[in-house]
Amino acid sequence: MSHWIWEDSLSIGIETIDNQHRRIVNYLNQLDDATASRDRDKVSQVLSGLIDYTETHFTFEEKLLEKSGYPLSDSHRKVHETFASHINNYQMRHDKGEDVARQLMSELRIWLTNHIKKDDADYAPYAKKILNVDKSWTDKILGKLFPQ
Ligand SMILES: [Fe+2]
Ligand SMILES: [Fe+2]
Repeated sequence: MSHWIWEDSLSIGIETIDNQHRRIVNYLNQLDDATASRDRDKVSQVLSGLIDYTETHFTFEEKLLEKSGYPLSDSHRKVHETFASHINNYQMRHDKGEDVARQLMSELRIWLTNHIKKDDADYAPYAKKILNVDKSWTDKILGKLFPQ
């Protein structure tokens, strides 16, 4: 598969969130490289990093949406939960020895593009109110979820 190059149309206009989405795109490209090198240990390592990071990103968004009073925060969380269990299924299949990376990469790329452009873009005005105003809350949650 070719690498996924970040496009500006994926930006929701919030640097913190855009950077997290960029990081997921990077993980997918690393997974592509690991798959091409046929190094199973490397694939395992990148795959679990990708899934962990994606789920942590989901948690960050969910906390942010709840805090901001975004009216669709419950349904946004449910969309994340459904997709997280779907990608965990890929992890299980990988653990059983199946070669799932390419299928996961193409699904994640399509899903993320749609989710970012529709669902994530929709919450942006609410999220901005928190991220730009409540710096101490933001720093506390970011520090907890993404320790340096
Ligand atoms: Fe997102
Ligand atoms: Fe989301």
